[in-house]
Amino acid sequence: MIETRFTRMMGIARPIVQGGLAHLAYAGLAAAVSNAGGLGQITVASFPDREALREEIRLCKSLTDKPFSLNFALGMRPLNDLLDLALEEGVRCVSFTAGNPEAMIRQIKNSGLENDVKILVLVAGVRAALKAESLGAHTVIAVGYEGGGHLGRDDIGSLVLIPRILDAVKIPVLASGGIGDARGYAAALALGAEGIEMGTRFVATQECIAHPNYKQALVAAQETHTAVIERSIGKPARVLQGEWASKVAALEAAIPPPTIDELLPLIAGARNKRAALEGQLDEGFVWAGQVAGLIHDVPTVQELLDRFTSGAEEIITGLAAKLTAGPVNRD
Ligand SMILES: Cc1cc2nc3c(=O)[nH]c(=O)nc-3n(C[C@H](O)[C@H](O)[C@H](O)COP(=O)(O)O)c2cc1C
Repeated sequence: MIETRFTRMMGIARPIVQGGLAHLAYAGLAAAVSNAGGLGQITVASFPDREALREEIRLCKSLTDKPFSLNFALGMRPLNDLLDLALEEGVRCVSFTAGNPEAMIRQIKNSGLENDVKILVLVAGVRAALKAESLGAHTVIAVGYEGGGHLGRDDIGSLVLIPRILDAVKIPVLASGGIGDARGYAAALALGAEGIEMGTRFVATQECIAHPNYKQALVAAQETHTAVIERSIGKPARVLQGEWASKVAALEAAIPPPTIDELLPLIAGARNKRAALEGQLDEGFVWAGQVAGLIHDVPTVQELLDRFTSGAEEIITGLAAKLTAGPVNRD
């Protein structure tokens, strides 16, 4: 058993969180992760309206009696009414990313549910982590530069970012970005993280609704097959390399740089969906982290979490066995 402050706080068996996955994380995946002992999440950004989200929350509750979370990507459209709806429907864990969570956290406090709702905040730097802690977050998720999807602007890799954030805050820190197998999980725990969050690895599972072409592209990809786009608009994000991503990169490299209106048709959500859900990989883009190089199959979520748990336990036990009682005999 790998037990941490995070598992105790959340009442879950395994400190493994499925990251918010825009257009890919619905009740089926979230419930599968929660049923396997981790923490599944439904991504609010994927829902056009309140009623669709309400139905999805109810569906998730019918699929699992374990805790699950709702992921809110801030800064795109006002999400206050959807947060109210989530609380009304009994959701007791939320995560915030891509923006200042202050107003959303205040809303939770004002709802009178402050003591019942666990708040996770994704951060990519020490300052944001300290701010999240001061606002009342219960856990920060430190996302390193290796990760898939939107990243911090400072390009700090997980191996440096996680201990830096651990040194700065007292609340539990989860490691995210670049974790794709039990070795990464054990390494995150060795750094002092109290669990992990993964995005790309969960895309390549049976329960994720990503198109099989996307999953196979992740299996085929090496760690060198990702690229960072959207840097020209201050929102760096990691995608799988491909024709469409090259088109975006070429436009962003132009002098003068493109305006947002010129770039938007190439990076719109519809282009992401075309590739991720319809499998037309040359007609859009898909998010992916460097960890694609470590993905070799498409297991069920249960298999994946079992594998992570037994693998990490074996590594940790093996490390302990490497300790010697006295001076090393080099003969
Ligand atoms: C396909 C995809 C979609 C993502 N969408 C979101 C999102 O909507 N909200 C969010 O908080 N993070 C999102 N992320 C980031 C992940 O939750 C996670 O932090 C990141 O993938 C971790 O790095 P990894 O890919 O190396 O595991 C996304 C990542 C991927 C790969």
